[in-house]
Amino acid sequence: MVLHPLLGIEEVPAVEPYLGRVGEVFREFREPDSGRVSYGVRLLDGARWFVKEAVTDHARESLARGWAFHRAVRHSAIVPQVHRIAVRGGGWAVVMPWREGEVLYCPTRSGPRGRTSPESPLARFRALPTGHVLRAFDRILDAHLAVEAAGHVAVDFYDGALLYDFARDATHLIDLDEYRPGPFVLDEERLPGSRRFMAPEEFVRGAVIDTRTTVFTLGRTVRLLLDAGDEERAWRGTPAQQAVIVRATRADPGDRFENVHDFATAWRAADGRLP
Ligand SMILES: Nc1ncnc2c1ncn2[C@@H]1O[C@H](COP(=O)(O)OP(=O)(O)O)[C@@H](O)[C@H]1O
Ligand SMILES: [Mg+2]
Repeated sequence: MVLHPLLGIEEVPAVEPYLGRVGEVFREFREPDSGRVSYGVRLLDGARWFVKEAVTDHARESLARGWAFHRAVRHSAIVPQVHRIAVRGGGWAVVMPWREGEVLYCPTRSGPRGRTSPESPLARFRALPTGHVLRAFDRILDAHLAVEAAGHVAVDFYDGALLYDFARDATHLIDLDEYRPGPFVLDEERLPGSRRFMAPEEFVRGAVIDTRTTVFTLGRTVRLLLDAGDEERAWRGTPAQQAVIVRATRADPGDRFENVHDFATAWRAADGRLP
């Protein structure tokens, strides 16, 4: 029996040399301080895969969380973690199918003007006809309906978790490693994440993080994506859509939609589509 070089292997001594032996590493992602190193690898059969390895304790913890999340949640827009390989000496590497596309924003690679310079992926995305943006958001929303149905809540969702394929108009969700079962009580100073996507309660130790928090993040996501610029001064949607966002992003969680399902129903009604 010939084992698949990634899916059929349970343990390797070290990730990078192993990938180099079974294929060609054609991309490497090393973000300083993240504790994670990822590789794009092309196997001899031509198939491309994405392999992410955690190299610090903190990163291992988050990768383990991500693995549990992917056991619980499946959706066609969420790039799955299909296998994990133990690394001798401790730790894991997770294997995901490679997806074509550009991450809309990357704090390290995109540079200081990563959200504003016209050639940045986010600016190009914002310049697309609104139908593309609405379709992309609908995929994000649909994925979060699956997250909610599985009893999980969003943590650390931002434009860096969106891989958009401009050629095929396809949206993929990556890097959801901080998602977790909810509701839960925040036992730290704050949650990880990009401030502009985060609800106020994510900065309050002892606060309850639940589906209303996810609603806030999704409201912010569409507010930011459906704007021609980065300063929220060039809204491209309708007043009805804006009204749904206002309710989704109220400071007091009690004033928001109760869950993603209710938000999605209101959003799709405002969007002129049936729920
Ligand atoms: N399945 C994938 N296919 C292709 N590229 C990917 C895939 N997943 C992630 N990437 C790319 O790798 C980068 C790092 O992945 P990410 O999951 O964000 O790692 P980290 O946990 O270190 O933030 C992303 O910004 C994206 O460009
Ligand atoms: Mg990332």
